Amino acid sequence: MSYTVNTLRTMTRSCEMMRDRVKSVVFKPEDRKVLDLTFGPTAAAELVGRTPEALAKAEKEGRLSPPKQLGNGRRYYTLEDLTNIREALHIHPGKASDEDAVVVAVQNFKGGVGKSTVTKHFADYLALHGYSVLVIDCDPQASTTTMFDIQPESLIDEEKTLGNFLSPRSTFDDFRQAIHATAWPTIKIVPSSLGLQDAEWDLTATLREGGQAVREGLQRLRIGIQGVIKDFDVILLDPPPAMGFLGLNVMAAATGLLVPVPARQLDYLSTIHFMDTIADNIEILEENGTPVDYGFIRVVCSTYTPSKPGEADMWKMMQATYANFLLSQPILASEEIKNATQAFRSIYESKPSAAHATYQRCRDNLDSVFNEVLQQIREQWPSQSISKRANDAVTSVAA
Ligand SMILES: Nc1ncnc2c1ncn2[C@@H]1O[C@H](COP(=O)(O)OP(=O)(O)OP(=O)(O)O)[C@@H](O)[C@H]1O
Ligand SMILES: [Mg+2]
Repeated sequence: MSYTVNTLRTMTRSCEMMRDRVKSVVFKPEDRKVLDLTFGPTAAAELVGRTPEALAKAEKEGRLSPPKQLGNGRRYYTLEDLTNIREALHIHPGKASDEDAVVVAVQNFKGGVGKSTVTKHFADYLALHGYSVLVIDCDPQASTTTMFDIQPESLIDEEKTLGNFLSPRSTFDDFRQAIHATAWPTIKIVPSSLGLQDAEWDLTATLREGGQAVREGLQRLRIGIQGVIKDFDVILLDPPPAMGFLGLNVMAAATGLLVPVPARQLDYLSTIHFMDTIADNIEILEENGTPVDYGFIRVVCSTYTPSKPGEADMWKMMQATYANFLLSQPILASEEIKNATQAFRSIYESKPSAAHATYQRCRDNLDSVFNEVLQQIREQWPSQSISKRANDAVTSVAA
């Protein structure tokens, strides 16, 4: 083995050992993430869409079991209690059973713009609010997979992986078999695996064969998702930061697009290129027999520090140019998010790392951003839609 390969392998082994040590501190001894979430009466009521008084009344009337109590008498609910409340009170926030899941691609070709952070946090937000979610990690870097506590290396001997499914040499057709459980009862994941990069190469090789092989290669993910499209409310796709066959599969499978763009000049500029390339690629997909029509396209400012030089101007510029397509609230850059993700968690899963008020501000900010995306998603279900896409005209671009 050459010096270079030897050195790289040694460094890999050392990093893997360190990662395992960090995980053994963060997670419980059995090395799996354990969710330990509790909610006071006000938070629980808000999450199920009722007032605390309405819950108290239902408890009094025996329609709900009373909440658990701490030694000091404080009442609290668990995640499971929220599910039981929704069932008992017939609260069903998701789609009708015969409707399709909305498939949201959190897409931008630029690296490090917050795609995986948004995907993980949005999945947890949706689960907390009673939606069932499938996350599909289409990035060989596997950040989102790790955040959901699955080690991509653990799938190395598994045949039923996303990479194997997407490959033209696929040995199985039931996409359901690639789905794994997570610590969240209502979030499932199709993890990224080490073979995903190989699948990208195999798919790219179809270009040599052309015609039908390319058409099939572009639709693999879409076909897989079709098999489970009624089983979830929302399917989130986290693509790699590049436009190869994996990225094209994501674009072909999506029915809604969320584009994270930090309030930084270089990211803003590269997103112009991204939008143009997306339009070109959709034309390529359509020429190859894969019609693409997103129910919504929204840009989200994914990290914003108003006090940082230039960022307030960038935010104004984004408002002027993306107009109605920009979510009205930016995601604020936050140490809470950074610290939580370093511990393989979202802020919805972690306790405050600093003052409680700072944590709450961060959480309120994310809640209001994700609530806007959720409204777009709900509009896609005829049973939930309150209006149609009337407001989607860009009115102020270049005005
Ligand atoms: N709002 C935020 N506040 C603070 N840190 C953030 C925020 N959003 C993202 N980050 C941090 O920025 C880094 C990059 O984010 P992330 O991995 O989500 O980007 P990505 O677009 O998925 O990257 P890649 O293209 O490599 O997949 C991470 O360290 C993440 O913790
Ligand atoms: Mg990522």
